Amino acid sequence: MSERARKFTVAVIPGDGIGPEVIAEAKKAVEAAASIENASFEWAEYPFGASHYLETGEVLPGSAISEIGKASAMLLGAIGDPAVKPGILERGILLTLRFVFDQYVNLRPALSLPNVPTPVPLDGKIDSVVVRENTEDLYMGLGGVTRDGKLKVQLELERGSYNLRGDIAVELSREIPFAAQVALNTQTGVERITRFACETAAKRGESRITIVTKSNAAPALYGFFEDIARETISSEYPDMLSETVNVDALCYHLVRKPDAYGVLLCPNLFGDIVSDLQAGLAGGMGTAAGGNIGDGLSMFEPVHGSAPDIAGTGRANPIAAILAGAMMMRHMNLEKSAQAIGRAVSDYLASSPKMAMPFEFSGEASCAQVGDAVAAKI
Ligand code: IPM
Ligand code: MN
Repeated sequence: MSERARKFTVAVIPGDGIGPEVIAEAKKAVEAAASIENASFEWAEYPFGASHYLETGEVLPGSAISEIGKASAMLLGAIGDPAVKPGILERGILLTLRFVFDQYVNLRPALSLPNVPTPVPLDGKIDSVVVRENTEDLYMGLGGVTRDGKLKVQLELERGSYNLRGDIAVELSREIPFAAQVALNTQTGVERITRFACETAAKRGESRITIVTKSNAAPALYGFFEDIARETISSEYPDMLSETVNVDALCYHLVRKPDAYGVLLCPNLFGDIVSDLQAGLAGGMGTAAGGNIGDGLSMFEPVHGSAPDIAGTGRANPIAAILAGAMMMRHMNLEKSAQAIGRAVSDYLASSPKMAMPFEFSGEASCAQVGDAVAAKI
């Protein structure tokens, strides 16, 4: 007897630039893999992004947020366009979604893939993962700019696990323009991301994680992160070893020995930076996927941006988006399907002649041709 198909509705914001092109290929791969575990997918597409904003002035209406919240998961292409001032769409769409759905983990794996050139020679293979705290730190959006040496900003913020009220009040002795931005790391925030990092290491069969901080320069903010992370590990995961590294030193070591790391537990800002470095070392943004994960709706995306310079040319590499689709399926407990996509990507890269590789790897295959080739191997 065949069991009834498991039906999933996925909210999709293809977004700007190459976003729609790569998302189309991610959907292809997910649909090809769905039958493996008798799943079926419905896509609920939303138009938000630069063109929608320029046409309507609308960034991300509350009604759409509530609708999106009912989906099983979400896929996001890329947000950002040179015609829109930086920050409006990134904060208004991407960060808003991360915050309202309290997606406190940004999970960004990096894996050496066959025939994908790496900028640094490797002894072994890169197989690391950034576990980035995704709701706090310098990303909270608490700040202001003043031209006259006096700053007073009223703060009011609702977050998944707390609300915040207060103000920033700073006055300089001279009328110098300045900016201030407040970062918070809370005990709840650090504990939950530390748990996730430890669980991730355990699933990988590893017994060590690296805590990435900068407590020598910012002892309050990052000393606290470090202390809470260490306390969480020693009280809840006594068998897990941890090393603490300042982010500058980590970048140095990561460039020299990219294959020496496993789970990298990072506060939000360092996780943003380290995950780009890690992606670059593993072969580029074209293969880097990420998941914004929480207890409610989770959202999966390629780590790359909207790349307006190559949008519409067919030169975009859809592999990152396809792997984001696989991460989404894994999150939905469709492990076999997720593995099938991962294997298909590796097979495709391992077996394709140069011409059939993405432009990013000096081939000539268009975004859709890469997507078709991967889907055919699933
Ligand atoms: C990322 C991006 C975003 C971030 C930007 C677009 C706000 O760089 O997803 O890494 O900083 O988190
Ligand atoms: Mn980034």
